[in-house]
Amino acid sequence: MPNLIIFEEKEVPALGLNREKKPDIEKMKEYFFDDELEMLQGLQTIEHTFSATEVSLLYPGCGTDILTPLLYLERIMPRIERVKLHFVDTSGSFAMFKTILYEVGISFAECEGGIQFHWQHILVTLYFHQQNIARFLHNCPEYHIYFEKCFRIMKDRMPEYEQVVFDRLATSGLVISDSGFLDVGLEKIEVDLKLSAYGEMMVGRKR
Ligand SMILES: C[S@@+](CC[C@H](N)C(=O)[O-])C[C@H]1O[C@@H](n2cnc3c(N)ncnc32)[C@H](O)[C@@H]1O
Repeated sequence: MPNLIIFEEKEVPALGLNREKKPDIEKMKEYFFDDELEMLQGLQTIEHTFSATEVSLLYPGCGTDILTPLLYLERIMPRIERVKLHFVDTSGSFAMFKTILYEVGISFAECEGGIQFHWQHILVTLYFHQQNIARFLHNCPEYHIYFEKCFRIMKDRMPEYEQVVFDRLATSGLVISDSGFLDVGLEKIEVDLKLSAYGEMMVGRKR
């Protein structure tokens, strides 16, 4: 039987940036099903050639999932120092992300339009955009990483969705998705297909 995950938004204080605070693994287990966390901790480094030490990541349909992309970044990009996360969802709340960070022992600071915190070796700035991703993609600047999880049904309703995502991705940028992206011309990187609940994990690079 899978464990039950409870998301309960709380009012939590912004205690400021503190690079000494590390995520508490036992607390993190409360936000993942069974062996999901163990699997993510086994992720290997992926070679990347971004010229910037600061990268941007787009995550549409993020729901309440702040931890999965952080674990990916921590594991696959040990040289990245700064990241800007753009999370987009038609519903949801920034307060839930703050609650989760607080609960797993991460201290954050408010900054203009978002929050900042240290996640392992990375200084993260997180922005949440309550918007339809189709609309967001119209005007957004290019990003280095596109991250997707459990968004297969939603994107199927949007014509040319994957092509638009690919077009906006920076050269050498990565797509990390648990479904699709087989036909847009990515250079595929071998990863464990079991990382996807659909068994079709895609990590690919735009040449
Ligand atoms: C199945 S949940 C996945 C949540 C998260 N990615 C995860 O793995 O836990 C899908 C999310 O997509 C959001 N969503 C659906 N259509 C959307 C759209 N067109 N633009 C942005 N978000 C959307 C929903 O509000 C929901 O939070």
